[in-house]
Amino acid sequence: MKNALTDLLGIEYPIIQGGMMAISGAELAAAVSNAGGLGVLGQKGNSPDSLPAWRDEIRKTRALTDKPFAVNLPIHVPFVDEALAIVFEEAVPVVATAAGNPLPVLPRLKEHGVKVMHVVSSVKLARRVAEAGVDAIVAEGGESGGLVARDRVSTMVLVPMVVDAVSLPVVAAGGIADARGFLAALALGAQGVQMGTRFLVTRECTAADDQKEAIISAQDTDTRVVPMGRANARMLKEELHPQAMAGQIGGMITSVETVGEIITRITTALRSEFDRLAAMI
Ligand SMILES: Cc1cc2nc3c(=O)[nH]c(=O)nc-3n(C[C@H](O)[C@H](O)[C@H](O)COP(=O)(O)O)c2cc1C
Repeated sequence: MKNALTDLLGIEYPIIQGGMMAISGAELAAAVSNAGGLGVLGQKGNSPDSLPAWRDEIRKTRALTDKPFAVNLPIHVPFVDEALAIVFEEAVPVVATAAGNPLPVLPRLKEHGVKVMHVVSSVKLARRVAEAGVDAIVAEGGESGGLVARDRVSTMVLVPMVVDAVSLPVVAAGGIADARGFLAALALGAQGVQMGTRFLVTRECTAADDQKEAIISAQDTDTRVVPMGRANARMLKEELHPQAMAGQIGGMITSVETVGEIITRITTALRSEFDRLAAMI
């Protein structure tokens, strides 16, 4: 596939694996990049003590793939400057900023030639970060797993409005796990998709097996939003698992697969799904 997002990131398919803290490690990120998408390495922890292990993980990712990959930098972590120093020293090509205001760190990232994608959950924030100079925007709807915004605008509503508001590549995130979701995102004007929950339930993800099994057994209605620090997070209902984060799309996932199987299935099914739509119009 080829569009503004694949050109920007130097990837084959506009499929991004969302950062998921320590469970999105080198093995997962490298597998996604090797399969033609963009793997994103998550943070290893919430304290600066986690940074040496994070640097090791960056090096391990580089050893496992020669394709582009990104690191996730939630802006609220209390060690942004130290993390940025590692990004520059290790020459990481792309940073996926999230959970905060990226404006104070953008000039430094741009100075070092790092491409920046920022995750937004509203049109207002999309406009602000586009004006400030990010390279791409991830528009994440409130059905996603992990931290969710207070207003939880859905992907269906958010993506086309963000697409209309900015003139940058937009990536749709939240509630996508198959070729139909991918095509829907493209139909809404996005140039690509970011998936979290689907990539969590893979062999390469280091999440605990019981968390993966709980997501497999979940139905569409089996998530809840709970306070987490000063924010809110979408997780599975407690009766399924006491601490497994997952988005609503977890209800669609029926087995643990490899990253390669997922990306091949999605990209192969795109054409037949598109033909199915075309035949109806
Ligand atoms: C367990 C879990 C942890 C997450 N942690 C982070 C994170 O640390 N940083 C971040 O930017 N997004 C995080 N996310 C959001 C994902 O990167 C991604 O945008 C989201 O999962 C997409 O929605 P989906 O789960 O419906 O695919 C997390 C998601 C999950 C499921």
